[in-house]
Amino acid sequence: MKDTVAFVPTMGALHAGHIELIRRARELSPEVIVSIFVNPLQFENHADIESYPRDIAGDTAKALAAGATRVWAPTYDEVYPDRIEKISAGRFGEIFEGRARPGHFDGVLTVLNRLFKFVQPDYALFGEKDYQQLFIVKRWVQENKVPVEIVAVPTVRDIDGLALSSRNIRLRPSERESALVIHRALQRKNREEMIAVLATEPSFTVDYAEIIDPESFEGALPGARSQRGIIAGWLNGVRLIDNMVIATRQEG
Ligand code: PAF
Repeated sequence: MKDTVAFVPTMGALHAGHIELIRRARELSPEVIVSIFVNPLQFENHADIESYPRDIAGDTAKALAAGATRVWAPTYDEVYPDRIEKISAGRFGEIFEGRARPGHFDGVLTVLNRLFKFVQPDYALFGEKDYQQLFIVKRWVQENKVPVEIVAVPTVRDIDGLALSSRNIRLRPSERESALVIHRALQRKNREEMIAVLATEPSFTVDYAEIIDPESFEGALPGARSQRGIIAGWLNGVRLIDNMVIATRQEG
């Protein structure tokens, strides 16, 4: 194993999805740095920043147990000491998640630009759960020749298929049951079927349900070899997102 550094940026509230990122990072590098920083620039709503769960001691213990060699929880002033160099996510920051959360992806790139400068990682790991984030980060790195390799890690799911998310703890047991409709819908082969499945769960309000080409993040042409279903919506005020590869005939 070369003397490399793998980086797992987080906002804390570590769950099994983060643990998988750290475990994978440790397979890549002897040094694994985990950052914990609740980045205000990626929240549209001030109340969400305030209510974001914070447990630095607990998260540090979990990260170290999973294989992190260093946990870094910088303050706002450390990350943004003076004028903030804002990074734009461009048009991909304005569709799907970006339409529901204006400025969110600009905030993500702005903080990553700072964190990467401090950590100077060889690898940075991101979960496929936030698929649009992963796409935007990869594209920014590529276009700006940021010297880091972005490593995508498959979504970790509960046994019943629910994608792990720090928001799941806000779901009551009956709501959690309703949330499973997203996973069921993602197993369909086209958008109409996906929407029909989602309609069976009236408590889930769909924001978008699309099948995209993962290379362009635009609508996949029927029969395209590579397709990904992406779904977002609200369940009693809790925003949930998920995505999965759509199995096409060629792959079978
Ligand atoms: O995915 C997240 O937790 C955040 O968007 C990230 C990448 C840590 C940037 O704040």
